Amino acid sequence: MDNQTVGASIRVRVPAKINLALRVGPLGDDGYHPLGTVFQAVSLIDEVEALPCDEGVQLSMRGEGAESLPVDGRNLAVRAAELLREHYGVSEGVELRIRKHIPIAGGMAGGSADAAGALLACSMLWDLDTQPEDLHDFAARLGSDVPFALMGGTARGVGRGTELAPMLTRGNYQWVLALAHEGLSTPAVFRRFDEMVEAGEMVGSTDVPQGVMNALATGDVAALGGALCNDLEAPACSLRPELVEVLDTGRAATGVVGGLLSGSGPTCAFLARGESAAMDLAAELNALPQVRAVRRAQGPVPGARPVK
Ligand code: C5P
Repeated sequence: MDNQTVGASIRVRVPAKINLALRVGPLGDDGYHPLGTVFQAVSLIDEVEALPCDEGVQLSMRGEGAESLPVDGRNLAVRAAELLREHYGVSEGVELRIRKHIPIAGGMAGGSADAAGALLACSMLWDLDTQPEDLHDFAARLGSDVPFALMGGTARGVGRGTELAPMLTRGNYQWVLALAHEGLSTPAVFRRFDEMVEAGEMVGSTDVPQGVMNALATGDVAALGGALCNDLEAPACSLRPELVEVLDTGRAATGVVGGLLSGSGPTCAFLARGESAAMDLAAELNALPQVRAVRRAQGPVPGARPVK
């Protein structure tokens, strides 16, 4: 990763995401839930480097949680490289080196970001004739959050979250992220959502609140804070009750305009009025025993892009 002198290596930076709104419809026959979501890419960045090698796809990872991640075909970044090799009949191999800053199993799409980074880096390394639409299609085959990691910025997402429409937004948003000690399984959170819908405790719907769209159009931080919503928050809190105190603490802090569970969790994301409120909140959250670490990030930031 630190070896920037390797001739043909390509390095790509790729961001984490927060869902500013995540509405979930009832489980479909395909085993997925239709979503209505608004993604924002934030400045927690993984770096994916692709270097030529003789054969196969090799992966090494460093940084945040890297030691607990598989480096074989179970890793989405390896699958991304294999998908391109197969589709384009590439005979050369690739060595992928990933430096992680995005928390793993945290609801911030870190694995998806790495896959998006691998798609872009490998397509450049092998000089493939991929159009943005092609990369989007490969990304959607890999996972629901992979296309947005390529796109970045702020976007509406429907379907599985892979059908995206970029949004023009105003403003820059200061986030404080409370990371949990242990990750949460996305399928498990969706299953709990299904149980709660079946029990009549929740209603499945994909309607994104107009308040989120209006706030982003005008750059109104306080209005956005009040409109944030996530249908997976109640199911995740039911699986991990200690998240409730983290959410309550963050939301009640001075200078915080809103907070929500990020994606399927367990990371909690809080929107601060400005830098100084964000710094105060970071200190307050750090003192909670349920919180493993706190990160600050701002958004929106661009999607996957090569480092010059
Ligand atoms: O697409 P991805 O592999 O990221 O999804 C992981 C799991 O999350 C799926 O296998 C499914 O159980 C659940 N999921 C869902 N509805 C979606 C997205 C994901 O039920 N729209």
